[in-house]
Amino acid sequence: MKKRMIRGTVLACVAAAAVTGCTTDKGASAEMSKGCEPSVVVKPFGKTKDGQLVQQYTLTGAGGVVMDVIDYGGKVVRLYTPDRSGAKTDITLGFNTVGGYETQDPYFGSLIGRFGNRIASGKFTLDGKTYTLPLNNTPGDMPCSLHGGDKGFNAYVWHSEPLSEGKSVGIKFTVTSPDGDQGYPGKLDVTVHYWLTPENVWRIEYEAVTDKATPVNLTQHLYFNFKGEAEGSILDHELTLFADRMTPVNKGLIPTGQIVPVKGTPFDFTTPWAIGARINADNEQLRFGGGYDHNWVLNNQSGKLAPAAALYEKTTGRYLEVWTSEPAIQFYCGNFLTDQVPSKKPGKNLCYRGGLALETQHSPDSPNQPSFPSTILRPGAVYKSVTEYRFGVK
Ligand code: GAL
Repeated sequence: MKKRMIRGTVLACVAAAAVTGCTTDKGASAEMSKGCEPSVVVKPFGKTKDGQLVQQYTLTGAGGVVMDVIDYGGKVVRLYTPDRSGAKTDITLGFNTVGGYETQDPYFGSLIGRFGNRIASGKFTLDGKTYTLPLNNTPGDMPCSLHGGDKGFNAYVWHSEPLSEGKSVGIKFTVTSPDGDQGYPGKLDVTVHYWLTPENVWRIEYEAVTDKATPVNLTQHLYFNFKGEAEGSILDHELTLFADRMTPVNKGLIPTGQIVPVKGTPFDFTTPWAIGARINADNEQLRFGGGYDHNWVLNNQSGKLAPAAALYEKTTGRYLEVWTSEPAIQFYCGNFLTDQVPSKKPGKNLCYRGGLALETQHSPDSPNQPSFPSTILRPGAVYKSVTEYRFGVK
């Protein structure tokens, strides 16, 4: 998408926003009417525990979707989409304060890097040299490095600027991860654009360059619950995955290296299935994942944007298509979520499997898996990846 940057803290149709109730003091409003002029409104969200100011951007899309996004981790804090009757609900998991994210955070709504997903034993060898990463996760008692390590991109305050192009609004995020950051080689310069289009598409464009060869696998970890945040489990959501194959894992959720057909297994989502329909099947992979927490190899391996997943919830009619240029997708159905995690709603907690994530990416542990597509970025090359979350109703 062509970009034109707009400056200032209050942009485009803030006057219209005030009149129609597009925004409130608490953030985007569920009552925002369809057809509001697109706008970006910036205001303080809070401070990190080390005193960094965190800004919130409210993107109001011309098609009716509204997103509250913070520059801390590029996190989508709130995401309002219309249901079949036009009523808007916040359909993503998050926290109302920076402290919420700093205290306990299952990567809600966050940008993830340098390497999304797991790297076995926190080690990889590149061009003859072995690198050691922080071990911040131990599924099945097998330590690994998860989602970029102890301080991944989810915990950075990114440099951010509002964007506007035609009827689309957005945010440009940039970050420089220094050489050796979390054990990874090379200085990595990362740019991520979020765009919200009049067609209710949230488009994410990732770019990165490095000065030394290094693995890169960027993704977004938004959780969906189409009935609304803290409104029960997602087991009744119907999922389609445009993937005939998946990568089985060991008990540490590290791929074995095999790529197997899903046909005839509970992992076959090539036609829509309720997530809960087969989740308790007698299946070793489901036992290892505590449910679905696996990586599917997408049918599209062209590097061009193509459908990866679709999600539907029949009571609200909410429908989503995920399109990506990435070769794989992690479907995680919130098996680690519990009713001990507070929601954004006062006095209300989340629940086990209260949200699901569809994370576009390269397969886990790729730096140690010679048969998987490479995740190594070399100096002079540009890492590029695009994902679109296309919101609608059926
Ligand atoms: C997912 C991962 C899960 C879990 C989750 C964060 O991407 O597949 O195993 O770690 O992130 O709680």
